[in-house]
Amino acid sequence: MAQPIILDGKKLSTEIQDEIRKKIDIRRTAGLKIPHLAAVLVGNDGASTTYVNSKIRLCKSVGMQSTLIHLDASTSEEELLRVVHDLNTNPDIDGFIVQLPLPKHIQEMHIVEAIDPSKDVDGFHPVNLGRMQLGLPAFISATPAGIMTMLSRYHIDTAGKHCVVIGRSNNVGTPMSLLLSRNTNPGNCTVTLCHSRTKNLTEICRSADIIIAALGKPKFVTGDMVKEGAVVIDIGISRVDADNEKGYLILGDVDFPNVAPKCSAISPVPGGVGLMTVVSLIMNTMQAAESRDKL
Ligand code: GUN
Repeated sequence: MAQPIILDGKKLSTEIQDEIRKKIDIRRTAGLKIPHLAAVLVGNDGASTTYVNSKIRLCKSVGMQSTLIHLDASTSEEELLRVVHDLNTNPDIDGFIVQLPLPKHIQEMHIVEAIDPSKDVDGFHPVNLGRMQLGLPAFISATPAGIMTMLSRYHIDTAGKHCVVIGRSNNVGTPMSLLLSRNTNPGNCTVTLCHSRTKNLTEICRSADIIIAALGKPKFVTGDMVKEGAVVIDIGISRVDADNEKGYLILGDVDFPNVAPKCSAISPVPGGVGLMTVVSLIMNTMQAAESRDKL
């Protein structure tokens, strides 16, 4: 097998950032409002803090306005609902996210359902998930949106292919399976959505033209699960303790050294889908600002 194409999220996200920066410059010149993203972080979880900081940093880098609202871990559900209400009604905010997971005493779905769907740039609100399923304009959650962009910009042929999605989470696996089964490009796949109760997972994966690994178990997809020429997309971002400066390593769901030689294309971790996720959130915020221009 020839060397696989490496689906380079870093390169692609840099290109998209340049495109967004240009669009924002054009808006500034035209006297239009600069898009504004707010991010709410409750508590001090290490991974959540890293992700939120990277979202804010990217806003700054493309010239977008951003606001970080950092609340104490003891914030009540009622208090958080008030913050969500304030952001819903603040005309200066085009879109916002509430970083998950939330502390255990807060019911995540109560918060997600309180977000105005027109500002839900995470695409987590049931209205956005429903509209996406119906093929109506919607915010598509950042990780699935990033993968669709990656497949599109690398011209990966998906029509008629068998795509196996491993993991059925509400925000990644399930929307990914829906997006790839729709009559769109990328799309038109025959999708198998696998999960913890799936039998014969190895056999199912071996019949896949495209594997999307989104289960959060480091190095779960091994060489024997992948057929020659498959496209493999790795969504895993597990932090494992390591004896390095950071004290941890980020590992994907795919055993890259053993899987890559069999693939026609593969996304690495780090440097793959993770970077596409953050840039997709910024694209969604741009989309939110553009729809608010028309109000
Ligand atoms: N936690 C992990 N990923 C995400 C994300 O994309 N959005 C939010 N709000 N929380 C997350």
